[in-house]
Amino acid sequence: MRTYVVTGGAGFIGSNYIHYMFKKYGDEIRIINVDKLTYAGNLENLKDVENRENYTFVRADICDAEAINRIFSENDVDRVVHFAAESHVDRSIKDPGVFVKTNVLGTLTMLNAAKLAWENPDGSYKEGKKFLHVSTDEVYGSLSNPEDYFYETTPYDPHSPYSASKASSDFMVKAFMDTYKFPANITNCSNNYGPYQFPEKLIPLMINNALHGRDLPIYGDGKNIRDWLYVEDHCKGIDMVQEKGRLFETYNIGGHNERENIQIVKTIIQTLREELADDDPRKQHVTEDLIKYVADRKGHDRRYAIAPDKIRAEVGWYPETTFEVGIKKTIRWYFDHQEWMEHVTSGNYQKYYEEMYADK
Ligand code: NAD
Ligand code: DAU
Repeated sequence: MRTYVVTGGAGFIGSNYIHYMFKKYGDEIRIINVDKLTYAGNLENLKDVENRENYTFVRADICDAEAINRIFSENDVDRVVHFAAESHVDRSIKDPGVFVKTNVLGTLTMLNAAKLAWENPDGSYKEGKKFLHVSTDEVYGSLSNPEDYFYETTPYDPHSPYSASKASSDFMVKAFMDTYKFPANITNCSNNYGPYQFPEKLIPLMINNALHGRDLPIYGDGKNIRDWLYVEDHCKGIDMVQEKGRLFETYNIGGHNERENIQIVKTIIQTLREELADDDPRKQHVTEDLIKYVADRKGHDRRYAIAPDKIRAEVGWYPETTFEVGIKKTIRWYFDHQEWMEHVTSGNYQKYYEEMYADK
């Protein structure tokens, strides 16, 4: 049975990945979820899997070398899928330090631990061991020419403290591959959306605010462009890269689905109105009147757009979920999980953790 260490598995993409993997492989794999449970980590995301015999949760900081080394010495780990990171650009603008610590030094700790566990005395590696570093398209900077796309060969040009820290972590992974022939891949993905996304990010924030009749804050002129990908498609891409990709390669993962922020917000309002029953009082206030233009994000990147040609050609992956389908599924999920939203916005998920793990 193959054993995966998934870091950051209590976050948005990590928890979707764990669900995806159990749905796909069932009892054929074992997953050890290593997460510090920062504000962004929520064990409620994993309620459905927490009692599985082939699932273990370890609360640990990826910067804690002792704790991470222990996980590798106590388990025969075959795969690492490394999601854990500080992930929000606005927070990085306010406080860059923790981004360097977690994203750069934490990644180095993970690499050191995996190398120590997997390397043979002659410098080769044990059969089948693989590390996948989950990164972002933001490392490539911002596109100004509408005909340009991010390719794996596009030079790095990060602007925010977040993207600078992710770029540094990518280079550290690359350094391990180049220097030690460490068996890894890097994936650089565009903006994800879907279930379990913390409502500091555009789509869940707008859904939540709209339902509560609060302003919908659009930064700047609302014409910044992001390339949106349904999270399950990303999870599938990560698995396919580990299974079918060439080691030491980088693969860009993107939706070919570019939208201006204002378009996204208007689509959310329209979709919410379609989904809300006519006699639901919220329908009164879910209108475009809630839109409010506010001061721009500092250093706001204008456009991101991935060319997912390499992953399609080499691995056979392509984005399956159209935005129209994905946004409906997402809104329906937030409707059906209003308690989840209440908990993450009221801090109750910390209490949930304390209750669940008080005796452990
Ligand atoms: P998230 O903020 O929702 O989750 C991050 C998780 O990491 C949380 O569970 C948190 O508790 C955990 N974590 C943070 N610091 C930790 C530490 N020091 N030790 C252990 N665990 C820690 O993030 P996300 O949106 O799910 O992103 C996951 C990864 O994917 C990140 O590496 C991010 O850079 C990358 N990524 C995200 C997107 C996106 O659109 N969300 C797109 C491309 C790449
Ligand atoms: O491109 C991949 C990246 O996508 C990931 O690496 C990051 O972890 C993830 O957070 C995301 O970064 P963005 O900065 O693009 O996502 P965010 O949801 O914060 O913002 C999306 C766009 O919406 C961006 O142009 C800023 C704008 N925005 C955001 C918020 C939260 C607003 O206009 N208003 C808002 O309130």
